[in-house]
Amino acid sequence: MKIGIISGHSIANLIKDPEKIMVETAFGDISVEVSREKKHDLFFINRHGEKSDVPPHKVNHLGNIQAFASSHVECILSIGTVGSMKKSIQPRDFVIPHDFVDFTKSRQQTFFDDKRVHVDMTNPYCPSLRDSLIKNCKKFHEITFHEKGIYLATEGPRLETASEINYFSKFADIVGMTGSPEIVLARERNICYASLCVVCNMAAGLQNKLTADEISRIYTEKESVISNILQLTIDSIDVERDCNCKNDLSKVTL
Ligand code: HPA
Repeated sequence: MKIGIISGHSIANLIKDPEKIMVETAFGDISVEVSREKKHDLFFINRHGEKSDVPPHKVNHLGNIQAFASSHVECILSIGTVGSMKKSIQPRDFVIPHDFVDFTKSRQQTFFDDKRVHVDMTNPYCPSLRDSLIKNCKKFHEITFHEKGIYLATEGPRLETASEINYFSKFADIVGMTGSPEIVLARERNICYASLCVVCNMAAGLQNKLTADEISRIYTEKESVISNILQLTIDSIDVERDCNCKNDLSKVTL
């Protein structure tokens, strides 16, 4: 099976002996690293582009997901760095979100711009991939992880105000800038999608000051455990999954 990995950072030792390819899509050329393993083929995309320099509000979500779809990827594991809006979720913890809220403002949200298509988002994260991530996180006793969490996507690139976080915290747990519409577009292309989020900071107003350095530093600290969790998860993904991500799509063309 072909499995996609999407992240904003490198993931040490996960993509072995990669072959670099360019996948042409209607939304631009996307750089993909391909690594062929015993059980699965891995397709890695840095969502911020080949040089990792595209800011969050300019990420080519349509191109990235279309590149996976054109490569016949069936499952996507997404890595995200997030801030926590809850005291019970601390920096260095992991969260495997089960739902999301979208507060982005200026992103193209769909592949279906010329017909009336509505995808079902009742269970946006693939339950089967989430189970695999949870099962494998449990093997790493040194980490704290949360089996559920609501992800809130903001537009960026600025971080939030303390009042925004106070408001968002009423209905979500963690905040990041890139999880949506990536997840929606994956469902529109019938691809299973789940996310492993690493908490890099308490969100605005819950700690004194936020810096981009702090976010990178905590990611780097966690990079090797992220790689190990992903490798075990990839090894445990079954071709036959008991989810409905593929079929559940209510492509209601009115
Ligand atoms: N807000 C938005 N995105 C983030 C944060 C945050 O606090 N931390 C890491 N990504």
